[in-house]
Amino acid sequence: MNAELRIGLFGRGRLASAIVAAAPAAGVALAWQAGRGEAPGGPSDVAVDASVAQAVVDHLDWALATGTNLVIGTTGWFLPDLEARIGGRIGVLTASNFSLSVALMARLAKVLGRFAALDPARDPYLFEHHHRLKADAPSGTAQLLAAALQAGCPRKTEWTLGPAAPHQLSVGVLRAGAEFGTHTVGLDAPAEVLELTHRARSRAPFAEGALAAARWLRGRKGLFTMDDLAREVLDPLFDFGGTP
Ligand SMILES: NC(=O)c1ccc[n+]([C@@H]2O[C@H](COP(=O)([O-])OP(=O)(O)OC[C@H]3O[C@@H](n4cnc5c(N)ncnc54)[C@H](OP(=O)(O)O)[C@@H]3O)[C@@H](O)[C@H]2O)c1
Repeated sequence: MNAELRIGLFGRGRLASAIVAAAPAAGVALAWQAGRGEAPGGPSDVAVDASVAQAVVDHLDWALATGTNLVIGTTGWFLPDLEARIGGRIGVLTASNFSLSVALMARLAKVLGRFAALDPARDPYLFEHHHRLKADAPSGTAQLLAAALQAGCPRKTEWTLGPAAPHQLSVGVLRAGAEFGTHTVGLDAPAEVLELTHRARSRAPFAEGALAAARWLRGRKGLFTMDDLAREVLDPLFDFGGTP
C-alpha cells in the first residue's frame, strides 16, 4: 500500500475546487492551497498547478527552488525551453486535459488522420465548445487533438480557425454558456461523415486525472505528459492480436 500522497495546489478556481473535492476519495491529502498572491504553505510530495497561464513560470521556479515535483494542468502558456529549465532536477508532468478518455481520443485522432491521408477527399476537422469564461482558445485539448490529426495526415501542415486552405486543418471554437468541455474530431468525405466526440459532464474526470497524475509523478524526474501515464493503460488496447 502506497503511503498517503500529500499535494500542494496552486489556484482556487473551478478546477482547483474540483481537485479539493475529489482528493479524499482518491486517498490524497491537501497539504496547502495557494491562490493569487498567496504563498505555498509547507512541504508536499507533489504540487499541482490549476491557476492561470501567467503564473506558471513563477510556480515552476518555486518547484525548482524547493525540489518539488509539479503537475501543470493550467493551459495557455508557452515555454519552449521547459525541458532545459527542468534539467532533470525535478519531475514535471504537463496535461492540457487530465481525462484518460481524452488521451484515448488523441490516439484515435491520429488514426483518423492516417485514414484521411489515404484519400484527399476525406477532410479532417476539429470542433470545441467551452463555457463562456474560459480564457484561452482554442483549448489546450483542441491543440493536442489538432496535433494528433496532423501527425496522422501530413498534408495538413497547420491548423487555422474557421475557413481553411487545403493544407490547413479547420478548427471551430464556441464559447457560450456553462459547458465543461466538448471536443469533436471528424472526417468529412463526399458521401459520409465520421465523428468522435468527448463531452465532460463535470470537472470530475479532470480532477481525478490530476490526482492520478500527481500520484504517478511522485519520485520521478524529468519532463512527462499525460500520455506517459496513459500509455500504461492504453497501449494494450491497440494490440489487435498480431495483425501487422
Ligand atoms: N488539464 C485539465 O484537464 C484542465 C481542466 C480544466 C481546466 N484546465 C485549465 O486549468 C486552468 C484553471 O482553470 P479554472 O477553470 O479553474 O480557472 P479559474 O476558475 O479562473 O481559476 C483560476 C484560479 O487561479 C487563480 N490565480 C490567479 N493568479 C494566480 C497565481 N499567481 N497563483 C495562484 N493562483 C492564481 C485565480 O485567482 P483570481 O480569481 O483571484 O484571479 C483563480 O482562483 C485554466 O488554464 C484551464 O484551462 C485544465
